[in-house]
Amino acid sequence: MTKNKNNQTIWNTRIKNKTSNLFQKIGNSIDIDKRLYKEDILGSIAHVEMLFKQRIISFKIKNKIVYGLNKIEKEISKNKFEFNKKYEDIHMNIEKRLFEIIGEEAGYLHTARSRNDQVITDLKIWIKSSTKDLNKNMDKLLKSILKLADKNIETLMPGFTHLKNAQAVSFGHYLMAYVEMFSRDKKRFENNLENLNENPLGVSALTGTSFNIDRNYTTKKLGFKNPTNNSIDTVSDRDFVLDFIFSASICSMHISRIAEELILWNSDGYNLITLSDKVVTGSSIMPQKKNPDLLEYLRGKTGIVYGNLFSMFTILKGLPLSYFKDLQDDKLVVFNTFDTLNNCLKILDEVLKNLSPNKKKMLELARSGYVTATDLADYLVKNHSMTFRNAYKKTAEIVNLAEKKGKKLEELNILELKKIEPKLTNEVMKIFNLKNSVNSKSSYGGTSFDNIKKMILKYRKKL
Ligand code: ARG
Repeated sequence: MTKNKNNQTIWNTRIKNKTSNLFQKIGNSIDIDKRLYKEDILGSIAHVEMLFKQRIISFKIKNKIVYGLNKIEKEISKNKFEFNKKYEDIHMNIEKRLFEIIGEEAGYLHTARSRNDQVITDLKIWIKSSTKDLNKNMDKLLKSILKLADKNIETLMPGFTHLKNAQAVSFGHYLMAYVEMFSRDKKRFENNLENLNENPLGVSALTGTSFNIDRNYTTKKLGFKNPTNNSIDTVSDRDFVLDFIFSASICSMHISRIAEELILWNSDGYNLITLSDKVVTGSSIMPQKKNPDLLEYLRGKTGIVYGNLFSMFTILKGLPLSYFKDLQDDKLVVFNTFDTLNNCLKILDEVLKNLSPNKKKMLELARSGYVTATDLADYLVKNHSMTFRNAYKKTAEIVNLAEKKGKKLEELNILELKKIEPKLTNEVMKIFNLKNSVNSKSSYGGTSFDNIKKMILKYRKKL
């Protein structure tokens, strides 16, 4: 039986000399993977219950181990557990403590399993519950966006392409674009859970085991759908880690896009939104400043999440099967990704709750840049039976004229318009009204007020 006394490591029968102090200090992962303690204990309890059911260990031993594990869980959650770097990781720290609590019978716990299957079982369970946490925060964010959109259905602003004024839109419609994005993100995270739902426990180091274990039993106990199919693939696979960080990267990218746009709109050049004092910071030298630091934080953190994705891709690139120490850093990147994204979701929510549109400025900007030109072209097609290309050309001539005269389209008089297109009558003037323009986009998914109202309702029902 494994001896584990007086600070000796589990393998010190074989490896007689002490591991380099330096490596013990640096190569351990306990500070990172202690976060998995609950999942590790859950997995261990399921494992010993299975061992008992299969008559591999006795009832008495099973109970002793479960008692010890539950005690350890309490100790850790009450901060009364002493983690030791010498025992590398959470698995060995718990096993070591189990020996202290129940004695030599702790040595049965690791029958028919390895840390290789143990660690990914823990990590998969952790990702499952953390995905739910992320999605909860995404729901909160979605609710805030919906609230802001609802208040701004009739707030008119220019929609941009190439950052140039394009066509008039509702600010509410713009916000609803982010509802779409974050809803896709939620779904992407949920879809990952489907792929991740295979139980690694029981494949042992890489071959499976000669013990008569029941993997379906632990699968059910731990809430997985099936056991994994191939022992070698199981301990080598970190696709589920990539899926998680990839989904987080897309979500972060969405956050960075809204952050960047709001930073621009908050700039003195645009001045389309105001951020309340709660979500700005000052300058150490310029007394007048109110800087959108929180939004910049969000934009920057996206780089950290992408970095995690590429770290994991690079760790896996060309890595032979099956387990290598290289894989230990999967947890570092997963935890960092989770923390970063979770903070960003909360911060974005906070910013949106402290943001107000400068409706006058939005309208003023929408009134420049000839944003109703496309409406005019459409009008010519519908009312004067022109092809769209001819109408487009006529409208471009009208825009040129307006530009030459230093006027807005609606400031041209009918005689000026008629010079370019004689068929035009006074009726055309209504086309230049921004509210009409926005409301005319009533095709499914368009920016008309009615459409926005329906979409807000649809998403509110979902949440
Ligand atoms: N702490 C290790 C990790 O996170 C557990 C697996 C160790 N397995 C091994 N063969 N050294 O990857």
